[in-house]
Amino acid sequence: MIMEHHRGQWGSNIGFLMATVGAAVGLGNIWGFPYKMGASGGFPFLIIYIALAVLVGFPIMLTELAIGRKSGKSVLVSYQNVAGGMGTFLGFLAIISPLLILSFYTVLGAYCIQYVCLNFAELIGVFSLSSISGAQSFTDMLSNQPLAIGSTVFFIAICYLIIRGGIKDGIEKFNKIGMPALAIMLLIVIIRAVTLPGAFEGLKFMFSPNWEPFSSVQGFLKVLSTAGGQMFFSLSLAMGITVTYGSYLSKKESLVKNSLIIIISDTCVAIMAGLAVLPAAFALGGEGAELSGPKLLFITMQDVFNSMGAFGPIFGILFFLFVTLAAITSAIALVEVLVTFVIDHQVAKGRSPKRSRIVAIACLIVLAEAVLVAADGLGSNGLWIPFQDTGMTLGGTWLDFMDFISEGVAMPLGALVMSILVGWVIGPKVIRNEVSLEGNTMGDGLYSFFSICIRFVAPVAMAFILYGQVTTFISPA
Ligand code: PHE
Repeated sequence: MIMEHHRGQWGSNIGFLMATVGAAVGLGNIWGFPYKMGASGGFPFLIIYIALAVLVGFPIMLTELAIGRKSGKSVLVSYQNVAGGMGTFLGFLAIISPLLILSFYTVLGAYCIQYVCLNFAELIGVFSLSSISGAQSFTDMLSNQPLAIGSTVFFIAICYLIIRGGIKDGIEKFNKIGMPALAIMLLIVIIRAVTLPGAFEGLKFMFSPNWEPFSSVQGFLKVLSTAGGQMFFSLSLAMGITVTYGSYLSKKESLVKNSLIIIISDTCVAIMAGLAVLPAAFALGGEGAELSGPKLLFITMQDVFNSMGAFGPIFGILFFLFVTLAAITSAIALVEVLVTFVIDHQVAKGRSPKRSRIVAIACLIVLAEAVLVAADGLGSNGLWIPFQDTGMTLGGTWLDFMDFISEGVAMPLGALVMSILVGWVIGPKVIRNEVSLEGNTMGDGLYSFFSICIRFVAPVAMAFILYGQVTTFISPA
């Protein structure tokens, strides 16, 4: 009874879905997927991405939801309940990774907020953003450390206020308004982008089949590893998020249906983000515009808005609000992993945890590491000292380093260990039992499919993705 009181539960399945899709839809969908798809084969890349999402993403997501809901506890305890000591390793991995990701995710969210404000200032005529290039405004932003830190504090404060409200009255409530708002803003930006003269080139870049990356075996393997890494990050797997959010889900809901909806929605938003950014970048971004990563958003897209005339700042506000929302809904999920862990730990020790205090402490810890990344200005202020002369990508900046440990190693390693654990140690039956509750079933066909994927396909794919991630990060910068 007391435990129920501290934990709470999703108010509805749709609320759970909004929150989980919100956690999956983030910067990766907007600045990673469209460019990677265009540069790695276009339509054939999409087919490979979807195949990997079905064969690897789906079984891992279903496993995470089932493990979380089975114990109804934090990610650490959930893994321990099914796997003992190995679960402790997995659990801690899934608590540390979100913390590392948050160190830069919050700073990137803060830059989005700055761009919302700057476009607003342009709209009301107090600042002339369009008279400076996107490159210049972003350079100014990176080098202004007090502003970078201040806006990061602001971003984290928003997350604090949402998470403090709890699962149902905080996170679910925010996502139920935020996600539809995000979809509407995205649709408006897409309509504007695809109707710009010259937009077709962007669509061609993203969709038209390009067999060049498939011309050699190495090329094909590279496409596989790019698609796998992207799928994995985009679905927020092995981050404790799906286990944590699943632990608040009622036993009567269908885990299979929910997993599919999350995966389909995330992929649709990634494709839609491509429709919003690439046509505009090709039409108005200028020669040699950057098409991926932070520069796509913070330089190219701002150049696009600068060249749109009177309506530019309005689309700028809408677009950056959309990205800010996508970042907030992912960041709150990451913080909640830690918060749920501490709350459950305290309850187990017989204490009465105070949610708002735990959320405040978690946010302060995130702030401490985010300050480093913000002050470093994504590397442009040169704060990073260790590894600097190794010549490896991971030695570039604080952001690269945090990203390497989390996205490069911890996430794929966690999923690899988990697929082996479920496939070979505890057995896929455990997942089937949790899926088949209160009238839900997992038919023999689906169970065979799931077992083959989790035992054979997922471990091989994850080992390969892990290898791909590590080699990308340690390759010469
Ligand atoms: N899935 C998010 C994205 O696409 C990133 C993310 C990864 C968020 C892991 C939370 C956890 O940007």
